Amino acid sequence: MGSIEGINGGGAAAPQCNSGAHQMVTTSPAMEIDVPSAGFIEIDDAAVKKAKAGGLPLEVGTRVMCRWRDHNLHPVKVIERRKVPSSGNNDYEYYVHYTEFNRRLDEWVKLEQLDLKTVETCVDEKMEDKATSLKMTRHQKRKIDETHVEGHEELDAASLREHEEFTKVKNIAKIELGRYEIDTWYFSPFPPEYNDCFKLYFCEFCLNFMKRKEQLQRHMRKCDLKHPPGDEIYRCGTLSMFEVDGKKNKVYAQNLCYLAKLFLDHKTLYYDVDLFLFYILCECDDRGCHMVGYFSKEKHSEESYNLACILTLPPYQRKGYGKFLIAFSYELSKKEGKVGTPERPLSDLGLLSYRGYWTRVLLDILKKHKGNISIKELSDMTAIKVDDILSTLQSLELIQYRKGQHVICADPKVLDRHLKAAGRGGLEVDVSKLIWIPYKEQS
Ligand code: ACO
Ligand code: ZN
Repeated sequence: MGSIEGINGGGAAAPQCNSGAHQMVTTSPAMEIDVPSAGFIEIDDAAVKKAKAGGLPLEVGTRVMCRWRDHNLHPVKVIERRKVPSSGNNDYEYYVHYTEFNRRLDEWVKLEQLDLKTVETCVDEKMEDKATSLKMTRHQKRKIDETHVEGHEELDAASLREHEEFTKVKNIAKIELGRYEIDTWYFSPFPPEYNDCFKLYFCEFCLNFMKRKEQLQRHMRKCDLKHPPGDEIYRCGTLSMFEVDGKKNKVYAQNLCYLAKLFLDHKTLYYDVDLFLFYILCECDDRGCHMVGYFSKEKHSEESYNLACILTLPPYQRKGYGKFLIAFSYELSKKEGKVGTPERPLSDLGLLSYRGYWTRVLLDILKKHKGNISIKELSDMTAIKVDDILSTLQSLELIQYRKGQHVICADPKVLDRHLKAAGRGGLEVDVSKLIWIPYKEQS
């Protein structure tokens, strides 16, 4: 497989990169679909006394209202508790799940944030969990431990609870990557020796991770990578895409999976990175190629998956890179002459991004097309799987089932309305800049 001269051949001038030489930018999981920002409530002494009488510290499983960053009270469930290290008098802090929101917003809170008047008698869910856990077969347990494709829909209630029990508390709170300090979203199964680390330091090029900043600084002086390993298969302006074979670059691929899992729920780690290709999108400047996001793809998929996991790193989200990565995965499918679909389950943000992409691509064609067009023709033109076309058009109420056939109803005004609602188009993939041949097993 060829590479574009200069960047990949190792012949490019190696720009100096000192972690910390550039302004550090901090990002936290600021989600428009669930918007946080910090706040406390006044301590109600009477309530604390009552709660103490009834049992402070609060038990795991307790439901209570918690002051969130939007300054409002929201219902939470206590997931874990720990003693405040500096407090001599047995004060606890609590790891809570906001039951209205995604798990990425789970966090440690102080007692002052909890409205103790609202404490609900706690259900002993731990015991319940233990009971269901005991009923699980060893096969079910292994499935959770070993596979990366399992998620909400495929997991039965007991397995889902087991997954949530095992991954309930974020182990790593922050990472440093390039010029960003990023708050993590979920648990990631780093090797045990990293589990007591509040923050991990990643080399933004080889993705090795370290416990201390000085270790990273020492590493950066020695590390000669300035871009992901593998072949550069796309370059347009300052954007480049690298294809990394998990078999040839095992350590890089495993490091990427550890990193990605911090932002992906319900995907357990790929132990078998050999079976995957990784497409790493970078913004390049004179310091090197900085990873913006990636997607992984099975070398052979029986279910016609053209994408396994997709991630835009939080500092780069909502800029159109997600749609670029999705569009790129379909361009690869077109080159393979296959239709494709993302591996399920999709996360909330994954579904939003895919729905936006499918809507835009399909409605653009329908708008321009004169005469009849079938779902199969749409699928041939776009490499989008028929099921995904049907579900998109159905959700937009553009499809009717008449006389045993699906018929698309495409009133131009209605199409325009939906297109507007589908958001921005994202960054375009310029196919003429893609130099790629589909994967073939080397003998
Ligand atoms: N709030 C509301 N809508 C959002 C948000 C958000 N926080 N983030 C994305 N969207 C929607 C919007 O419709 C957006 O389009 P718009 O900006 O034009 O309105 C659209 O999704 C995509 O926006 P992009 O900027 O193209 O996508 P982004 O670079 O932010 O990446 C992605 C999307 C990859 C899903 C990112 O949110 C992410 O990495 N999330 C964490 C990991 C994840 O959930 N991955 C998908 C798992 S499913 C799977 O891997 C098969
Ligand atoms: Zn390195």
